[in-house]
Amino acid sequence: MTLVPAAARRAEDIEPFRVMAILARARALEAAGHDIIHLEIGEPDFATPAPVVEAGIAALRAGHTHYTPALGLPALRAAIAAYYGDRYGIDVAASRVCVTPGASGALLLAMAGLFNPGDEILLADPGYPCNRHFARLVEARAVGIPVGAETNYQLTAEAVARNWGPRTRGVLVANPGNPTGTLIAPEELAAIHAEVRARGGWLIVDEIYHELVYDSTPPSAVGMGEDVVVINSFSKYFLMTGWRLGWMLLPEAMLPSIDKLAQNIFLAAPTVAQHAALAALSADTRVLLEACKAELRLRRDDLLPELARLGFEVKNAPQGAFYCYADISRFGMTSEELAELLLIEAGVAITPGTDFGAHAASRHVRFAYTTSRERIRVAMRRIEAVLS
Ligand SMILES: Cc1ncc(COP(=O)(O)O)c(C=O)c1O
Repeated sequence: MTLVPAAARRAEDIEPFRVMAILARARALEAAGHDIIHLEIGEPDFATPAPVVEAGIAALRAGHTHYTPALGLPALRAAIAAYYGDRYGIDVAASRVCVTPGASGALLLAMAGLFNPGDEILLADPGYPCNRHFARLVEARAVGIPVGAETNYQLTAEAVARNWGPRTRGVLVANPGNPTGTLIAPEELAAIHAEVRARGGWLIVDEIYHELVYDSTPPSAVGMGEDVVVINSFSKYFLMTGWRLGWMLLPEAMLPSIDKLAQNIFLAAPTVAQHAALAALSADTRVLLEACKAELRLRRDDLLPELARLGFEVKNAPQGAFYCYADISRFGMTSEELAELLLIEAGVAITPGTDFGAHAASRHVRFAYTTSRERIRVAMRRIEAVLS
């Protein structure tokens, strides 16, 4: 065996996604002939809509295979700015848009561009696990604030004020959040903004699931002011996970720094994906996307009562995204034990809460309704058989 030097501490410090280990086990079981129902995967099962695929193919045929400017194709930056006008009635200058390789690229650029080593960023625990790792990567520190059902699993202005310390430089929220699918009320988000602004910090709002809110149409944080950094993506609502495309809106004054970082870290987001995304924002595609959203809503409405019937306690019904976050206390097992049991005995893959932070993580699991209603029904029957 070849001896290799040690990996850097920042790589060692980053915990692996447990869901990836579960996915790998699930795939191995499938390869051995078992039927596994995937309720762990954080991406919809729907294919990218045909007009988007066709636009991608046309872009390839037209030879659009070179780099775009680091901040993105000018036509796409303009289309994203126009989207805020059409969808939310907010005027946005195209010059504030930075197109990125997924929301992941935006989160990394935001961390690298807005925070110094040692700076602290407040975020909700449970929350999207990569955020704390992005902070680690730039030698900043993510401070997880325990949140529960009483605050809809989101940060509050009071929690931000209480936890703001001498090194705190920002707050990052996802609205709606992963793993809970729950929202921050607009007035609460405005109050958080006021707290952050009063302390001269950055407020970053990840709206990757914002178009997947089922029972209301909340305003975008873009409307709260140019100082709010808003991240979004073509991955979830637009069904383009594998195309790797997202975006970020920043204050005008930040663009030169972010441009430099983007040039150096990525050069640019994928060119073909950017051309395809122009079709994703068209009115025709929107009709198709809304049909998929309606289907996701039906799945949620099927799943919630079933989970309750089986003893999974979803304290706050998810208002958006495609996740249900359930308390499993009554089963007398940790979330990892239960996820293991359901994978092996029921052939159902779910995600243990330990992927999303430390707070009550062993008492919670996440169900992703990213498979068909029929398969979800079968999954519930199998889980019932195992747990009874
Ligand atoms: C809250 C949140 N933010 C960002 C991402 C990253 O998404 P992408 O890089 O595919 O746009 C995800 C993916 O699951 C997410 O759940």
